[in-house]
Amino acid sequence: MENILVTGGAGFIGSHTCVTLLDGGYSVVIADDFSNSGPRSLDAIRAITGRDFLFYEVDVAEAAAVEKIFGENKIDGVIHFAGFKAVGESVEKPLEYYRNNLLSTIELARACAAHGVPKFVFSSSATVYGGGEPPFLESAPLMPATNPYGETKAVCEKILTDAARANKGLSVSLLRYFNPVGAHESGLLGEAPNGVPNNLMPYITKVAKGELKELRIFGGDYDTADGTGVRDYIHVMDLAEGHVAALKKAPAGVSVYNLGSGVGTSVLQLVAAFERVNSVKIARRMAPRRHGDIAACWADAGKAERELGWKTRRTIEDMCRDAWRFEKGFAG
Ligand code: WQD
Repeated sequence: MENILVTGGAGFIGSHTCVTLLDGGYSVVIADDFSNSGPRSLDAIRAITGRDFLFYEVDVAEAAAVEKIFGENKIDGVIHFAGFKAVGESVEKPLEYYRNNLLSTIELARACAAHGVPKFVFSSSATVYGGGEPPFLESAPLMPATNPYGETKAVCEKILTDAARANKGLSVSLLRYFNPVGAHESGLLGEAPNGVPNNLMPYITKVAKGELKELRIFGGDYDTADGTGVRDYIHVMDLAEGHVAALKKAPAGVSVYNLGSGVGTSVLQLVAAFERVNSVKIARRMAPRRHGDIAACWADAGKAERELGWKTRRTIEDMCRDAWRFEKGFAG
């Protein structure tokens, strides 16, 4: 049974990936410092899968913490989610973002080389594509990031690319996410950001629940079908399955894959789908564009399908239904 270290395994995408790993017969070691998560998600993983796992409450940017994990466990692969991920916050706190996101990646890659760990899957982001015209291909030139968060993702990709070139025994998969949303169908796991959500779907669910008054739609004058921003939303469980596919099938060396649906959905389309499948009304008003937003972004998702045999299976309606089920049951 392969033993996988999942950093950030108590977080939104990490916890759903741990469920998929455990259900798929892997054993799991989770490292998380609870900076953007809590023990509740660990209990949910146990409840959903009926399986347990080792947990280390540590900062994986600390070399000693990483060495302790690798010294005490035989690790067959690493999936590295742990990192700060709020675009706006990264502009206010760039040094914290560079330290946390870069150092954690460096320390984990060093430990993999020292302990002969053959597989490293990295949580990257479509943010590295910057602007430009969708659909985005993995071969697209990376644009200079418009914020420190995006820059940390681009630099981590470079660090891991160089590490894999120097260490022929290491297979690196760089997975570029588009917009992860939704929740596990049990309603026990989901997206529970601290404070007022930045992202669209958790904001919608809080409006539906009555915790927030109305949704501000940032911009109605973009060059899109209905004037609102278009994004490639991907169900978090499809995303989790994409990580396991990369763990199983990624070739030696460095591989880059888009994890997206390949379909663009506008803000108004997502709101309409949410209202339709959940029989709720979302109070909304048009608001000025949000600084840093682009008009449209969606993936060319063909490479992951060809090379990993993976593509998204769940629909926008599934995402809306599952996100709402989690929010209704979440007392947070
Ligand atoms: C989606 C659309 C907004 C909130 C970000 C990060 C990206 C990734 C995913 C980490 C846009 C509109 C949003 C609201 C709105 N994170 N919107 N009202 O900005 O595409 O991507 O999260 O990897 O790196 O940049 O996601 O959900 O914030 O916005 O109208 O209250 O919804 O303008 O068009 P985004 P988002």
